[in-house]
Amino acid sequence: MLKKLGSLAIIAFMAGSALSAGAAENKELIAGRKIFQSNCISCHLKTGKGSPMMAQIFKVDVKNMDLDSVRVAAMKKQEIVGIITNGKAGKMPTFKGKLGKKEITEVASYIHSLGAEKLKKSAGTSDSVAKKSKTRVR
Ligand code: HEC
Repeated sequence: MLKKLGSLAIIAFMAGSALSAGAAENKELIAGRKIFQSNCISCHLKTGKGSPMMAQIFKVDVKNMDLDSVRVAAMKKQEIVGIITNGKAGKMPTFKGKLGKKEITEVASYIHSLGAEKLKKSAGTSDSVAKKSKTRVR
């Protein structure tokens, strides 16, 4: 029951943010994708799923590098911004000083959107909510 309420809260939040943002959000995602492609794909691949070779070099499970995941989609955007800004586990590099705050927010929005559809599915969303929710740019 509590778990279900949690999922509903996430859906309501996602639907709400998509409604208020609209076209502006799309622009942000497209800008974010560009930043992603120039800064992140060497390790996370174009799909965001993570490079098995890099995972081996960094000695991490490639699952921990998968950004096209329910786990990342379920994070708060601020949490993702924090990881990009400060790095993670001494492996994911810090982008402080390399990317501006606006760029970090844009790329965070982009990777936040990657697993959003899967998150919706796993939460069993109704169609009407799904339509209003985040669209993914490829
Ligand atoms: C030099 C390789 C490298 C580059 C470049 C890189 N990352 Fe990472 N990233 C990693 C590794 C390795 C991890 C896994 C860290 C861990 O959990 O041990 C990671 C983890 C992450 C996570 C956490 C995922 C999770 O589920 O907790 C996010 C978010 C992330 N990266 C975003 C980005 C973004 C956005 C960029 C580009 C701006 C980027 N990374 C560039 C190596 C990289």
